[in-house]
This record gives sequence, structure tokens and C-alpha cells, in this order.
Amino acid sequence: MNFRLSVNGIERHVDVPRSTTLLSVLRNNLGLTGTRYGCGAGQCGACYVLADGRAVASCLTTVEQAASQAITTVEGLALGERLHPVQDAFIAEDAMQCGYCTSGMVMSAAALLERIPHPSEDDIRAALDMHLCRCGVYGRAIRAVKRAAEVGR
Ligand code: FES
Ligand code: FES
Repeated sequence: MNFRLSVNGIERHVDVPRSTTLLSVLRNNLGLTGTRYGCGAGQCGACYVLADGRAVASCLTTVEQAASQAITTVEGLALGERLHPVQDAFIAEDAMQCGYCTSGMVMSAAALLERIPHPSEDDIRAALDMHLCRCGVYGRAIRAVKRAAEVGR
């Protein structure tokens, strides 16, 4: 089936079965590989993107569901040449090692700051709760979100 998607503000067309996951479409059809495949079952957070501003697991979202929403991936988070404050803060706090989980965490953090510009530490922990990081950068990621909240957009 043909689907029209809005991804990072650009209209995209894909011809895939309706049960195809958004994660698969982003990576395999649109070449947006910043969104990672981790578990494929909604358990790790590696595949998170924004759908109408909410952080969602793209491995659990079908292309059909995604077609009615504005999708933002990590490739579309920056404003032109300017990184999103969350991206800057993750770099400043060195909140990554292998980086596999990073784009998912960044998307959830960006959604949190849109919703709650000055989150408490509990808010930040709750927003990052579903993100597994084998390298254990949790403490630095929390500091990065606090830093981004201080800087604002
Ligand atoms: S790949 Fe989607 S939550 Fe793990
Ligand atoms: S930085 Fe390696 S999995 Fe998180």
C-alpha cells in the first residue's frame, strides 16, 4: 500500500505492507538510520521518535498509524546548523559511550522539555526510564537533561 508520511517536516511516500513498522520504514525505506533497532518489542527505547511531539516506540508504531502524525527523528531535531539544546547538552556532559541508545534518549528528553520546560529530577528519571543503556550513562544523561533545561531553546 502507498502511504504518505510527514517526516522531519518533509512529505515522504512509501509503498509497503500496512503492518510495516515505522522503525523499518525510517531505516530501510527512508535511510534515516539514526533511529536504532534494539529489541523490536517496545522494551529498550532505542527506536524512539516523536509523533506529534510525543516520544513513541517506532518499533510498535505501524506505518499506517504514523501516516496521520507528524514524525520527527533525531535527524530532524536540530534547527538548521544549530543542534537542539538536548543534543548540545548530551555532548557537553559526555552522556554517551557507544551511542547506540543516545538518539532514543535524546528524543524522549526533547519531548519532556517541550512538555515540562523545567522538569524535576523525578520527571527526568521517569522520561528516561524506558531507555536501556548497556554502557551505563544514566547519571550523565540526567545531568545533560538538566543542563538542557537550564539553557532552554
Ligand atoms: S527497538 Fe523499539 S523499544 Fe526496543
Ligand atoms: S551509550 Fe552505549 S548503550 Fe547507551
